[in-house]
Amino acid sequence: MATIDYGGTQYVLQDGESVLDGLLRQGAEVPHSCRKGSCHACVLQAMAGDIPAEAQDGLKETLRAQGYFKACCCRPAGDLAIALADPDDRVAASLTRIEWVSPTVIRVRLTPSPPIEYHPGQFVTLVREDGLARSYSIASLPEESALELHVRCLPKGRMSQWLAREARPGTWVQLGRASGDCFYLPGDPEQPLLLAGTGTGLAPLYGIARDALAQGHTGPVWLFHGAGDRHGLYLEDALAALSERHENFFYVPSVRRGPAPPGIEIGELGDGIRSAFPSLRGWKAYVCGNPEIVSTLRKQLFMAGVASRAIHFDSFLPAAA
Ligand SMILES: Cc1cc2nc3c(=O)[nH]c(=O)nc-3n(C[C@H](O)[C@H](O)[C@H](O)COP(=O)(O)OP(=O)(O)OC[C@H]3O[C@@H](n4cnc5c(N)ncnc54)[C@H](O)[C@@H]3O)c2cc1C
Ligand code: FES
Repeated sequence: MATIDYGGTQYVLQDGESVLDGLLRQGAEVPHSCRKGSCHACVLQAMAGDIPAEAQDGLKETLRAQGYFKACCCRPAGDLAIALADPDDRVAASLTRIEWVSPTVIRVRLTPSPPIEYHPGQFVTLVREDGLARSYSIASLPEESALELHVRCLPKGRMSQWLAREARPGTWVQLGRASGDCFYLPGDPEQPLLLAGTGTGLAPLYGIARDALAQGHTGPVWLFHGAGDRHGLYLEDALAALSERHENFFYVPSVRRGPAPPGIEIGELGDGIRSAFPSLRGWKAYVCGNPEIVSTLRKQLFMAGVASRAIHFDSFLPAAA
């Protein structure tokens, strides 16, 4: 049984228990959300002891070297001394604008102070004053004045309902470091790019597409956005305008259920991609949103010829109960 020194208090883990589960069971406060290693909300820093490699998966090399680890994935073999991640890793951010862009999605703009470094398409953990933490993908470009997030409002969603109904311009939250490797990297400006996602999976794709175009990508950039029905689509005008400004950008909205006006396809997102591009050999792909759809699309894209290392993805795993 490992003993964890967390801020000077000792916590004993049960056999096979993660650091996060053990600390929460014994009443400690640790920010967390998915409990599955995806959202990075639970990142802590080890001051002494050995961290299992899987607890550092997906963290940048510089953070791994400083002992950062994901508490929900950490089942240590021996004792650890750990602390909350460096307070400098969090910045205060003021909400500047919250607007409905569809019946279920709000666009949230924030101004972090000081500004944070990020690539469009990465995600940040947003932490409310009471410690509630949720991760959201970044739709804005660094050169824009505000950070832009798209939040799907769930009927009983603690963070999403608070953002939509209670938070106001001027409300302060905290933001963690930007994480994740779902972003555009220049280097092969002619490579065809396929961006696909459902619902607010559009947020990172909107950021990645605009970032690629802003960095002079000359190959085709296809963005397939799917939704359950017509009301699930949003930013259609902005995306149509983007395709008018860039002859190599193509926007394909689709819904699973009709009716839908001309220009919007009806059917499964993956079927639409497959009929447009039976072979995707040599493409790079970005897939974001609902975890089941992301998993299905990754398989379909791989079967269509996209190399697995060329498929970047973020699954929007919900917070654990
Ligand atoms: C890497 C990453 C990036 C993410 N990016 C985004 C993003 O850009 N935009 C965005 O809107 N979300 C994103 N999410 C999801 C987000 O972090 C929250 O999980 C989501 O907003 C719900 O939080 P909540 O507090 O509103 O709801 P909660 O209070 O956590 O959940 C309320 C209820 O809704 C259920 N629920 C939660 N999620 C879903 C779901 N997807 N479908 C159906 N029921 C659900 C819960 O089980 C619970 O019963 C991302 C998640 C990850 C891990
Ligand atoms: S990565 Fe640990 S709670 Fe999400």
